[in-house]
Amino acid sequence: MTNHRIALIPGDGIGTEVVPAARRVLDAVGARHGITFTYRSFDWSCERYLREGAMMPDDGLDQLREHDAILLGAVGYPGVPDHASLWGLLIPIRRGFQQYVNLRPIRVFEGVRSPLRTAEPGAVDFVVVRENVEGEYSEIGGRMNRGLPEEMAVQEAVFTRVGVNRVLDYAFGLAARRGGRLTSATKSNGIVHTMPFWDELVAERAAHHPGVSWDQEHIDALAAKFVLQPERFDVVVGSNLFGDILSDLAAAVAGSIGIAPSGNLNPTRDFPSMFEPVHGSAPDIAGRGVANPLGAIWSAALMLDHLGHPEAAAQVTDAIAAVLAKSTVRTGDLGGTASTEEFTTELLSVL
Ligand code: NAI
Ligand code: MG
Repeated sequence: MTNHRIALIPGDGIGTEVVPAARRVLDAVGARHGITFTYRSFDWSCERYLREGAMMPDDGLDQLREHDAILLGAVGYPGVPDHASLWGLLIPIRRGFQQYVNLRPIRVFEGVRSPLRTAEPGAVDFVVVRENVEGEYSEIGGRMNRGLPEEMAVQEAVFTRVGVNRVLDYAFGLAARRGGRLTSATKSNGIVHTMPFWDELVAERAAHHPGVSWDQEHIDALAAKFVLQPERFDVVVGSNLFGDILSDLAAAVAGSIGIAPSGNLNPTRDFPSMFEPVHGSAPDIAGRGVANPLGAIWSAALMLDHLGHPEAAAQVTDAIAAVLAKSTVRTGDLGGTASTEEFTTELLSVL
């Protein structure tokens, strides 16, 4: 028997509806594989921010540290600015725990309609690896002359050899375990300091991963190719900003924001990693029990894989594929009428 201590942060809105669904699936698949979970739930959220003035307590990271992984629903609440939730919870966890890889698998499943006419179910299956702790999202910069005609703002992008190399090594390693192909997102024609540095490091790291064939694309052309030829990709690696935009675009290509998962990984395992669906708190449908739980459930599968249980993880993703391909029971975003709970029960029936 292996036991894992899991921190649950359901958050706001539908986050509180999809995390329990993921937990049901974890318990069910765990029982088949001799894995148990000890959960501790945290009420950290925008609602807490409104009540107590902070998304999480001052010693929040210390409370999380003792866990093997974190499963998060979503944060966001009308009236709370998005930067409060991002900089008050998500970014402190990502940075404090050195979760320098943001992993976003994308698949067009049979039984899900992609908005792209050309996207064949099964053919689109790739992973976006986003650098998650430096790059364009830095705190370095400032504003001057506020309100004056001379007003100005400066925001510095930060690329370090250590920071870029480690995310590249992760991406090349992942490509070696998958289809053996890697595409690097760049813009070294327009951004003349950081992006040529990125490109040099890609070429350097590639030499350490001879089994992987690789190319690079400028971000604008790459965005077009995600739409025109999504089946050509295996692993795509990009900086924080490029990876952020590409992964949302890719989730849209796959047909439903409700399915897309993500992992914020600390590959060195010095700290817990955090897994969360890509979607937000969806205030428009929150409280009705109709949210698609698959994004949270697939995120839980990424967590299982990270915790060293690839067979259990594969069983969950196979069940996702099977329920989408074979069952008419599904939530409203996928054209059905099922509740979150009914859809989860249906998935458990094919697990
Ligand atoms: P959203 O992802 O919450 O919703 C976008 C649209 O997709 C809505 O129409 C929603 O009903 C639908 N949708 C999303 N997830 C769904 C699911 N599982 N099942 C069925 N339908 C689903 O994005 P939006 O509306 O831009 O943001 C809402 C709030 O969430 C904001 O406060 C935002 O800051 C926050 N947010 C939080 C994120 C996080 O926690 N990492 C990520 C994205 C947004
Ligand atoms: Mg995003």
